[in-house]
Amino acid sequence: MAKITTEEHNGHLRTIVELEPGEQISLCRCWKSGKFPICDGTHKTLESNVGPARVRAPEVKQDAT
Ligand code: FES
Repeated sequence: MAKITTEEHNGHLRTIVELEPGEQISLCRCWKSGKFPICDGTHKTLESNVGPARVRAPEVKQDAT
């Protein structure tokens, strides 16, 4: 499950999203999500074509040895 933390960095808040291998999430780009920064579908109610950014962590490759 994604681990989401917010921290201060150089006077600004930044959000760090850590994903498990193969995990995927949708990040809000409309700024209206009630679960920001995760998309909760609110963008579908807006008069805009803005949708989420889909982020996927790669699967871990097995060692061939
Ligand atoms: S709620 Fe903002 S992009 Fe989906």
